[in-house]
Amino acid sequence: MEFHKLLPLPSLIFMLSVALMFSSSSFAVSEIVQDKFFQCINLNSELYIPFSTAFVTPNNASFSSVLQSTAQNLRCLLPSVAKPELIFTPLVESHVQAAVICAKEVGIQIRIRSGGHDYEGLSYISDLDSPFVIVDLGKLRAISVDIDDNSAWVQAGATIGEVYYRISQKSKTHGFPAGLCTSLGIGGHITGGAYGTMMRKFGLGADNVLDARIVDAEGRILDRQSMGEDLFWAIRGGGGASFGIILSWKIKLVPVPSTVTVFTVPKTLEQGATKILYKWQQVADKLDEDLFIRVIIQTVDAAQKGDRTIQTTYNALFLGGASRLLQFMNQSFPELGLMRKDCTEMSWIQSILYIAGYPSNTPPEVLLQGKSMFKNYFKAKSDFVREPIPEDGLEGLWKRLLEEDSPLMIFNPYGGMMSKISESETPFPHRKGVIYKIQYLTLWQDAGNETASKHTDWIRKLYNYMASYASMFPREAYVNYRDLDLGMNKDGNTSFIQASVWGSKYFKNNFNRLVRIKSKVDPDNFFRHEQSIPPMALTSKRSGTRRIN
Ligand SMILES: Cc1cc2nc3c(=O)[nH]c(=O)nc-3n(C[C@H](O)[C@H](O)[C@H](O)COP(=O)(O)OP(=O)(O)OC[C@H]3O[C@@H](n4cnc5c(N)ncnc54)[C@H](O)[C@@H]3O)c2cc1C
Ligand SMILES: *[C@@H]1O[C@H](CO)[C@@H](O)[C@H](O)[C@H]1NC(C)=O
Ligand SMILES: *[C@@H]1O[C@H](CO)[C@@H](O)[C@H](O)[C@H]1NC(C)=O
Ligand SMILES: *[C@@H]1O[C@H](CO)[C@@H](O)[C@H](O)[C@H]1NC(C)=O
Ligand SMILES: *[C@@H]1O[C@H](CO)[C@@H](O)[C@H](O)[C@H]1NC(C)=O
Repeated sequence: MEFHKLLPLPSLIFMLSVALMFSSSSFAVSEIVQDKFFQCINLNSELYIPFSTAFVTPNNASFSSVLQSTAQNLRCLLPSVAKPELIFTPLVESHVQAAVICAKEVGIQIRIRSGGHDYEGLSYISDLDSPFVIVDLGKLRAISVDIDDNSAWVQAGATIGEVYYRISQKSKTHGFPAGLCTSLGIGGHITGGAYGTMMRKFGLGADNVLDARIVDAEGRILDRQSMGEDLFWAIRGGGGASFGIILSWKIKLVPVPSTVTVFTVPKTLEQGATKILYKWQQVADKLDEDLFIRVIIQTVDAAQKGDRTIQTTYNALFLGGASRLLQFMNQSFPELGLMRKDCTEMSWIQSILYIAGYPSNTPPEVLLQGKSMFKNYFKAKSDFVREPIPEDGLEGLWKRLLEEDSPLMIFNPYGGMMSKISESETPFPHRKGVIYKIQYLTLWQDAGNETASKHTDWIRKLYNYMASYASMFPREAYVNYRDLDLGMNKDGNTSFIQASVWGSKYFKNNFNRLVRIKSKVDPDNFFRHEQSIPPMALTSKRSGTRRIN
């Protein structure tokens, strides 16, 4: 790929076209696409980039490691899964603009990647059966914290761990309410909501965004003022990669106390887990807003040798000291039997490491590595619960969990600030009346198809079992826990009717407004993927960018 610097574009294309005539292999087609894209990027951006500094193709030995670098779901990296023609890593904002312009010009799809945590890998794979380029924002990760203004500008490629760390370096009493897993990319994370341990006090990450810079479908950079309130509404919860490419978010910092308290208390079935969880469901959304207690549910070895049992683990952050926490617990949830020795007081940034699962005494600088603690073959689903599940319902659940190798469920409490924000304030509609959200996961270790289908079958059956206990009409789901079982756009065709199936689950009535906004800002459906928001005009005809080649 060196000679393109010496040749004018037309002669290059001629040469490659000749090469193509004598070879029907897709390899040559790929080379043409790669080269046209590269040339076009340099014609359209302010900073010249040599090929080797920002582009990686499948015939470069580093391709796999760059592709895999932030990809979280090993299921999406199997050899049978389609790979990109090219991975482009923009170094400046104008490269991102050029990526949009050039993808259209070359007639190729793009996938946008910030932190790579998409549950179905939609930031680095594509089922749409057309060639695609990954635009990886991993090198755009500047963070500028302004304590006096209670705000920070954060580029899309930064992880939330880096954001938390940079805030904590400037102040011990400021924080940001986003995810628990510190390797999430802030770029994709906020597009779907972004919940974490402070959601009951401050709402979601998306509820605490003040401004944003995006590249739209025309390749223009817009901020809140120039994009207008409709589009600014859509990008804060309407799901990633439907409306534009987020370059950076301006986030609102929130006050945190200098001392917070954490605890982790496990209860197995033998220790009365079912009754305690039944009680947790009565109180989880009603507790003081400073208190967030989630429940992690797994199977573990039982005391009896060779037996398995269910373990429910209560994992909590309290925005205050241990003695006030113990008073609250004694009043509202004495069944857990929380004791002073279970509680650890620490700074907010230490609690971030604790909740993320780092060993105690890990220095917070670990967050700068942006490393993930979670890379697995996995399949996940989600539910929202509006009525407590009765004890016999929980018992049926235990039976099913015990049939699976590595099941994992996480119950996440709502209430507090979450129920004070109206359903239409942002596209994220799961607010008042939600007691908690369930995340279902199954993890496995080996690459075989049979293994994968065994586990995905299991989780689908579990999801069916849970239908009568979950929210209904629609059965709600969290867009950041993307689940293609709920339906998808096929071959780049999007239809309003089809998309409403999953759209109403993720967004309830907000789906209609998302479609109206999409129709206005991206009528040609440039930003599209398996679960993107469809524009209205394309309900029946084939969508897509016009191919100019
Ligand atoms: C281990 C793990 C833990 C998690 N924990 C939490 C949690 O605590 N709280 C929570 O709310 N969620 C959590 N999630 C879900 C997470 O919020 C979503 O997966 C989120 O989309 C990740 O963002 P990302 O940038 O890392 O992912 P990516 O895979 O890069 O992107 C996700 C989606 O957004 C699009 N996108 C990415 N960047 C941009 C951009 N700059 N502009 C426009 N679109 C973009 C992608 O194309 C893709 O469709 C977790 C996920 C994992 C795997
Ligand atoms: C392959 O990619 C790496 C990393 O982007 C780059 O440093 C290297 O120069 C590339 N090699 C070739 C032959 O292009
Ligand atoms: C909990 O409350 C009861 C009665 O209100 C009291 O007797 C008991 O000492 C309290 N326990 C703790 C740990 O505060
Ligand atoms: C898995 O399935 C794909 C296509 O369905 C096939 O190409 C691949 O060889 C299979 N892999 C294994 C390990 O069976
Ligand atoms: C997509 O639309 C085109 C044109 O209408 C049609 O020929 C094709 O079958 C559609 N594909 C799917 C999967 O619906």
